[in-house]
Amino acid sequence: MSTMTDSTSDTGAQRAPDMLPAGWLDYRNTGTRVLLRPGVVDTLGTEMATLGCERVMVVCGGNTRKSRLFERVMAALGPRAITVYDQVVEHSSVDMVTRGAELARELRVDGLLAVGGGSASDTAKAIAILLGEGGRLEEHASRFIPPDQFFPKPLPAPKLPLAAVVTTASAAEVTPGLGVRDAQGRKLLFWDNTLAMRLIVLDPEANVEVPVRVMATTAMNGLAHSVEGLYSRLRNPISDALALHSIRLFRQSLPRMAQDPADVDARAGVLTAAHLSGMVISNARVGIHHAVCHCLGARGGLSHGVANSVMLPHAMAYNLPVCERELATMAPALGVTPGTEPEMALAAIAQVRELQRLAQVPTRLRDTGLDRSLLAAIAQDTMSDRGLYFNPRRTDSADAVMALLEAAW
Ligand SMILES: [Fe+2]
Repeated sequence: MSTMTDSTSDTGAQRAPDMLPAGWLDYRNTGTRVLLRPGVVDTLGTEMATLGCERVMVVCGGNTRKSRLFERVMAALGPRAITVYDQVVEHSSVDMVTRGAELARELRVDGLLAVGGGSASDTAKAIAILLGEGGRLEEHASRFIPPDQFFPKPLPAPKLPLAAVVTTASAAEVTPGLGVRDAQGRKLLFWDNTLAMRLIVLDPEANVEVPVRVMATTAMNGLAHSVEGLYSRLRNPISDALALHSIRLFRQSLPRMAQDPADVDARAGVLTAAHLSGMVISNARVGIHHAVCHCLGARGGLSHGVANSVMLPHAMAYNLPVCERELATMAPALGVTPGTEPEMALAAIAQVRELQRLAQVPTRLRDTGLDRSLLAAIAQDTMSDRGLYFNPRRTDSADAVMALLEAAW
């Protein structure tokens, strides 16, 4: 485990050195097949058969189960769907995952299909962990000791084939990682390449049924992946390329989708941008923005998309003192016209605020129903989130996080 040393810029902010010298690569492809086209959900039976799955457990939440999309998924799967586990809750939960794994074991399930957003796909992956690794879920979580020690937990046992029909822009299904809330309200985080989905199905026509506000807030989460990926300590030339195009596509498609929720092309653009953003963080990981959002969700009860929608420009401003160049690099993809580096960096943040407005997402924590008295505990929780490890600007105390939360309040 390397320990970071500090360098101090003239603003007084500290920047950690890169983990790999600039331009070197340690890049992983996860071997996921991705299908995007109108009507593709109707081919799921054949696709699951290709994966060798005859006894599929469908994992979803109660609302998804009532949707037209769900009906189409079940019709396509036919007798291959041997059970539906529809207990998924937002941020998932250790108990719920454990019950799902028991059911899957009992029914000798041979494949897991998540239908829904990030919580459905994280739940399916967590069930796969329990089935593959055994033991209790808590034993398999990675650990981060602030400010700079990260202990990944390898999860090498073979896993059941995982697939996802995606209904939001969270891109959770793209990464081989996941988060599950424990009984104390903390988010346990897991990461291993054996958790990569074998198949991801994006159907922009079926997506028209998903409320546009859900797509808009989760798209802000996708945008945050690409923004954080572009200044992550683990970024590399491949993740940079993916992030820049993802940002460009979000900027083009998100306002169009907000304007006309029935626009299938705009939905396809948002789903593609989101998928790219997931490829970005599969390698570059995420920083303080996501650290705060995990804790706003786990302790504050905010949906991940809403937390992301509010926090993104604040997190960018927090990192500005050490990331002017990276923010200026992403500025053209956000529609900023060329200028000096400091001008472009500031304009990139302003453009994200403009996107918030066009997407009609919440911009202040006070408007989200969050209990203000939880802010200090959320700041404290954030100090234990591994996002701080990958963030370019080092965070040594909860006071800095508290200032970020106060600004967003
Ligand atoms: Fe996220």
